[in-house]
Amino acid sequence: MATTETTASGIGPVEGASVHNVDNPAPLIEAPRKRTRKTPKSTRGNFEMYGWLFMRLSGIVLVVLVLGHLLIQLVLDGGVSKIGFAFVAGRWASPFWQVWDLLMLWLAMLHGANGLRTVINDYAERANTRLWLKGLLYTATVFTILLGTLVIFTFDPNIR
Ligand code: HEM
Repeated sequence: MATTETTASGIGPVEGASVHNVDNPAPLIEAPRKRTRKTPKSTRGNFEMYGWLFMRLSGIVLVVLVLGHLLIQLVLDGGVSKIGFAFVAGRWASPFWQVWDLLMLWLAMLHGANGLRTVINDYAERANTRLWLKGLLYTATVFTILLGTLVIFTFDPNIR
């Protein structure tokens, strides 16, 4: 049984501290991916780290964009009843609101899609299920981003 004695070095009780000694060294644990001549460098990229960072940064920007959007659409100037074709036409006449809505569209879609990618990776256990769910997710994401961008830039207030 491992000892739980307190040593004089100031280190508290360490379970199993006396199991390994000079005659019985700790087992050598091999690196999960060995460097070989073919792969002398790490084969992993930093994609997940940038994804993690993107979720935080896009989240901060989205707070401003989405709260501003809700305030303008639902609270100010008579609330939701003012929204109609003329209201949208008036706002998209300004490049400022075009860029605002474009940023909101791109960031929310990429943030939401990357979040769902994580959820799929976490919960779909079979490789085939992950493949199909992510295929569907990426198709819907690209479609929505392209269609929304097209609408923002080709909107015609004089349409009949
Ligand atoms: C309004 C401001 C928002 C903030 C501050 C925010 C923040 C975050 C953060 C920090 C994460 C990462 C959580 C983690 O890694 O554990 C996250 C995940 C996620 N976000 Fe957002 N987000 C916002 C808006 C949105 C919007 C508009 C959508 C949908 C279009 C969305 C969909 C998601 C999804 C699906 C996840 C993954 C959930 C998970 O991993 O469990 N978020 N959000």
